[in-house]
Amino acid sequence: MKLRDDFGLTFDDVLLMPKRSAIRSRKDVETSTLLAKDFRMAIPVVSANMDTVTEEKMAIAMARHGGIGILHRFLSIAQQVSMVNKVKKSEGFVVKNPVTIAADASVEDAKRLMAENEIGGLMVVDAENHLQGVITTRDVLLVGNPRASVASVMTQRENLFVDAPDVTQADAIQKLYEHRIEKLPLVDKNNILAGLITAQDILKMRKYPHATKDKLGHLCVGVAIGVKPEDFERAQACIEAGADVLVLDIAHGHSIRGIEMLKELKKRFPSTPVVAGNVATAEATQEMIENGADSVKVGIGPGSVCTTRIVTGFGVPQLTAVSDCAEVAARYGVPIIADGGIRTSGDVVKALAAGASSVMLGGLLAGTDESPGRVSIRNGLRYKVVRGMASLTANVARKRLDRGEEIALEEWDEIVPEGVEAVVPYKGSVVELLYQMVGGLRSGLSYAGARSIAELQANAEFIRITPAGQRESGPHDNMPQ
Ligand code: XMP
Repeated sequence: MKLRDDFGLTFDDVLLMPKRSAIRSRKDVETSTLLAKDFRMAIPVVSANMDTVTEEKMAIAMARHGGIGILHRFLSIAQQVSMVNKVKKSEGFVVKNPVTIAADASVEDAKRLMAENEIGGLMVVDAENHLQGVITTRDVLLVGNPRASVASVMTQRENLFVDAPDVTQADAIQKLYEHRIEKLPLVDKNNILAGLITAQDILKMRKYPHATKDKLGHLCVGVAIGVKPEDFERAQACIEAGADVLVLDIAHGHSIRGIEMLKELKKRFPSTPVVAGNVATAEATQEMIENGADSVKVGIGPGSVCTTRIVTGFGVPQLTAVSDCAEVAARYGVPIIADGGIRTSGDVVKALAAGASSVMLGGLLAGTDESPGRVSIRNGLRYKVVRGMASLTANVARKRLDRGEEIALEEWDEIVPEGVEAVVPYKGSVVELLYQMVGGLRSGLSYAGARSIAELQANAEFIRITPAGQRESGPHDNMPQ
């Protein structure tokens, strides 16, 4: 038996020593960071691939505000692909594949298609994709006969302003403005539909200048995948739909199945960054990197709904885990994601100072408007559910999904959960939460005399504290109002 003779530390065990600061304003610091090699984002925040945290709504909000969301994998491949599509379609300078309808379809069909896709207009095309017209919500608003044809109410091709597929952003904006139009279809020389530019999308681009975007201006999104053979199909389908990052999501990443999967993913999808995890030791980090990981996710058991440490006895207190893993990863220039256990912006600063390039948040984001699930009321207070992905109910839901049928109660007893289901207070919009979190981070950087996360890591000096120091660190000796 071996016993490490230093203490494993976590966030509450330490504080950061203030450093002389030449920073005059919190605005003068830079929060951008790497999620993975060659993948930069404006803020170091990633929403966790949990089914009570990240579906398309959360992913859109995270990317708009400069972070990224990782869509969980406890759904069918088709469902996960549909979420990727929704994130990709939510923003972008050019809509590559606009939703289309045939001229002889009915107004009723057009209305349904617009509602299903949450859009205000459809491109009308023939079987060869030649543009014949455009139909919008305004055209269908007061039509008396729902069976009337699309052709009878649409704006005809000869009355449309269109442009070429390679139109510049500036020219497109000028045309939309000049003609006071909301939609500019793009067609090639043969009048084949090649895309669409909308005034709405241009406004969104201006509203979120720090958004995490791909080359086409669409929001970035990550997808979690597992280690089953069907996960190659999942990865392939999500990448084809535009997913920007794969997150190999297994509880014990440093395992033969995890490493083999990582190698194969890098072989099959060499141009998509792969985040590998979860791990908690230097050796594991090194092996993941040597097998192609573009980023390593660190955290065994620190999460708010995890019981891995109780059930198995394994784990490493999170600050030590991050620091051990980051030391190795830095030698290879590979970023670390600190995953789990973060409750405050102070914890974010500590995780980054210990060497992480970004943090993954689960429970903290679970109570927001953008997380999946409904708000419930208990004793007059509002809550949302959060559950561990290895909890009893999540295990049952996964089996149900795999088999397409209900799971007999006797089978419930065979499950050994490593997570719990719980409730967290309802917190309103994630946008406000991110604002506070990034504000705290900016302040933290200025206490460190650091203009960037890299400088924070270079300047960081931790001090271990006692339970008395912990007590002193929160509000004390007063009564809640
Ligand atoms: P927080 O503390 O932000 O942690 O809620 C989120 C991370 O927790 C992990 N996770 C689990 N770990 N059993 C575990 O041991 C589980 O059931 C479970 N569910 C989530 C995961 O790494 C997530 O990002």
